[in-house]
Amino acid sequence: MSGDPLHTKLCDMLGIEFPVIAFTHCKDVAVAVINGGGFAVLGEAMHTPEDIEADVRWIRDRVEGRPFGIDLVLPSSVPPAGSVEELMSNIPDTHRAFAQEIKERYDVPDPKGQVDLHQWGGLNQELARAQLDVLLEERVPVIASGLGSPAFMLDAAHERGIKVFGLVGKARQAKRQLEAGVDAIIAQGYDAAGHTGNVGTLSIVAEVAAMAGDTPIIAAGGITTGRHLAASLCLGASGVWTGTLWLACRESDVDMIIKERILESTVDDTTFSTSISGMTMRVLRCPWTEEWAKPEAPAPLQAPYQMLLSSDYIQGANDNRRADLMTEAAGQGVSFVTSMKPAKQILFDMVEEALDTFDGICGDG
Ligand SMILES: Cc1cc2nc3c(=O)[nH]c(=O)nc-3n(C[C@H](O)[C@H](O)[C@H](O)COP(=O)(O)O)c2cc1C
Repeated sequence: MSGDPLHTKLCDMLGIEFPVIAFTHCKDVAVAVINGGGFAVLGEAMHTPEDIEADVRWIRDRVEGRPFGIDLVLPSSVPPAGSVEELMSNIPDTHRAFAQEIKERYDVPDPKGQVDLHQWGGLNQELARAQLDVLLEERVPVIASGLGSPAFMLDAAHERGIKVFGLVGKARQAKRQLEAGVDAIIAQGYDAAGHTGNVGTLSIVAEVAAMAGDTPIIAAGGITTGRHLAASLCLGASGVWTGTLWLACRESDVDMIIKERILESTVDDTTFSTSISGMTMRVLRCPWTEEWAKPEAPAPLQAPYQMLLSSDYIQGANDNRRADLMTEAAGQGVSFVTSMKPAKQILFDMVEEALDTFDGICGDG
């Protein structure tokens, strides 16, 4: 085979060695992947503007000028502003009562401190805007929008030399973002962890790649092996965006209870549910998702109200380390995450397996 199949236009755009992007909430994982030759995007949607500024500087100090990204959520469907109390007052009594029943039935403890989800950028546009302002001010190399179109801030970003990536679950969202001029599109399928649409990864990646012209497409959803990486490039992607893959790695600060569940979970342990945030989301099954899936449950509220309702359960479970209650976002590729390796090793294994896969397909001729 001539040339390096892993050297893609995404590698050229970002100046990276391998077309593998780690989405992570853990700074140590991000730094390990960046310094290993991949790219990392740190999820900061749950953080205050002050924390975001500190995290950006922390990463910058450790990557010797290599680029990195920060991910926010920018949904336009949420209220423009409003305190948590004001937003909470819109939750109907039926839904409060159902959440309370779950709390009593499973003996869900109270959160121990401030509820992190109450500063989620997806709660209202004002919170997201304050987070975004820090990224513009800090001129982070890449801003990714995990939810909602980033088209409104393209000029502000480009004026500062910042690249903007949009994540989509439908071809029509990709079309609008390509027309607006985003620098890369993450085409994410149903297999993915976290918020995701109902189109399969194979279909969405091929469809978006076919309409993208010179704009790099990045495949996401269920990608946890080198064969997934090779397949994504064959579909027309220039790289992969991966989340579940890094949850149980050595450097990850995810609770050991969740790490162990990730290592033993298979596809059937994940569920596609609106019960956490009001938007479709793939997570590990837990009593909260199972109770809301029952026929007698009320229909989950729209964003951001369902997130406010679920936040007490989630943080109560996490703060008190209740293994029987805890959940986390996880994708259908979770079956392949079976050992706790250093992040750099995960990256290298993925690259090696992808190269072997291409060699196997092309043969010696
Ligand atoms: C634990 C976890 C938390 C996530 N949180 C966010 C988030 O805050 N913002 C976001 O845009 N995507 C988030 N995602 C989704 C990832 O960005 C990515 O799209 C997804 O993990 C890709 O699917 P995969 O996990 O099958 O690789 C999260 C994923 C995981 C595993």
